[in-house]
Amino acid sequence: QKDVGILAVDIYFPRTCVDQEALEAHDGASKGKYTIGLGQDCMAFCTELEDVISMSLTVVTSLLKKYGVDPRLIGRLEVGSETVIDKSKSIKTWLMQIFEELGNTDIEGVDSTNACYGGTAALFNCVNWVESSSWDGRYGLVVCTDSAVYAEGPARPTGGAAAIAMLIGPNAPIAFESKLRGTHMAHVYDFYKPNLASEYPVVDGKLSQTCYLMALDSCYRRFCSKFEKLEGKQFSISDTAYFAFHSPYNKLVQKSFARLYFNDFLRNASSVGKDAMEKLEPFSSLSSDESYQNRDLEKVSQLVAKSLYDTKVQPSTLLPKQVGNMYTASLYAAFVSILHGKPSALRGKRVVMFSYGSGLSSTMFSFRLQDGQHPFSLSNIACVLNVSEKLDSRHIFSPEKFVETMKLMEHRYGAKDFVTCSDKSLLAPGTFYLTKVDSMYRRYYAQK
Ligand code: ACO
Repeated sequence: QKDVGILAVDIYFPRTCVDQEALEAHDGASKGKYTIGLGQDCMAFCTELEDVISMSLTVVTSLLKKYGVDPRLIGRLEVGSETVIDKSKSIKTWLMQIFEELGNTDIEGVDSTNACYGGTAALFNCVNWVESSSWDGRYGLVVCTDSAVYAEGPARPTGGAAAIAMLIGPNAPIAFESKLRGTHMAHVYDFYKPNLASEYPVVDGKLSQTCYLMALDSCYRRFCSKFEKLEGKQFSISDTAYFAFHSPYNKLVQKSFARLYFNDFLRNASSVGKDAMEKLEPFSSLSSDESYQNRDLEKVSQLVAKSLYDTKVQPSTLLPKQVGNMYTASLYAAFVSILHGKPSALRGKRVVMFSYGSGLSSTMFSFRLQDGQHPFSLSNIACVLNVSEKLDSRHIFSPEKFVETMKLMEHRYGAKDFVTCSDKSLLAPGTFYLTKVDSMYRRYYAQK
């Protein structure tokens, strides 16, 4: 198949959110710690009415409707999530309600899990299926859905929540460059969820940052070497218009891009220009282990990479800064932020993507963008996404109300025999919500 990739996308995030500046004051953190230190503006969260199942029901229904796709034309449905509601039953099976209604139960695929990487695994499964001999001509559908919540403490402001749906097929406006994939996987305990009674992860924040940057280096090297084999020339930052990173918080994205810049300098010093070369030279003899801990290198590389960051990375930061870490959906929300900008200027451009899931698994891969044909065109995708309106129609909760909601959700996690509150006024029309969980832990949803 030619140009297999993403034909259509939609994103959903809860309208309920908390302002990072207010949260920082409420938590007694120093002024600017969450907004400048972490680089975050706002954080979305689920109230008792919403969860990863309702969000994915909402986004899949919306995508099929807005692009006019008949649910009978879906042949594979893959879900990536790290939010555990059931240890056996896939989120995918809840989504089957949408398709069963129309008699389509012939849909392969179940859930993929490894921290924030599950969405990428699901996406690769769908793309590989369309490129394979078992493809039956129908569309693949990928859903990334997560509610990222942390216990009180320094990680709490790095939460978020969203679901993204992506329709997969040939002749896509967002086409995979399938030969360009660099992967790095290893065993580490940086972020994991061993306590099955709690929704909160166990996290070693500092270790997770270093693991992320080491994985980035490794993937970039492999990605570059595949590019060189294919194209017969060295890859550098200048070979792509945009980068989208998995975005736990924006500061790590700034550090990541600076790290790629430093990689370019180490591989070919002249590729970064004279001024940057002089500034980075003192760090060229650091061992790689030392380089992850060196604060001066971090600062200098961010400084010299700043203007390129503004053109190649900044467009991808809108949703991750406004919504927070969406785990599996985070990287794709960064990508969607690029599309939202000015779709007409994206034709022919390359976007390099970096997916990271703690534990760990990571891949760097790339897309090539082209106009596409209505309804699967870049401009229609940007129109359907309607990012600005979705952001503008949110309701900002006070930090006190946010903390109260987190407490209620702690009790509700893994609970049975309850009904949710009756006030649906904050939900947008068309949104799915949880109505009750019965004595057999069966969950019931309705659509507003
Ligand atoms: N004004 C401006 N900047 C400030 C201020 C202030 N008042 N106070 C602190 N800062 C800066 C710090 O200098 C630091 O920035 P730097 O790294 O550029 O120096 C930044 O704010 C964070 O502060 P720290 O004290 O270093 O870190 P903290 O203990 O608050 O924890 C962390 C931050 C580790 C990110 C925590 O939120 C966490 O554990 N999050 C979850 C883990 C995570 O997301 N890991 C990423 C990969 S894995 C994944 O995706 C889940």
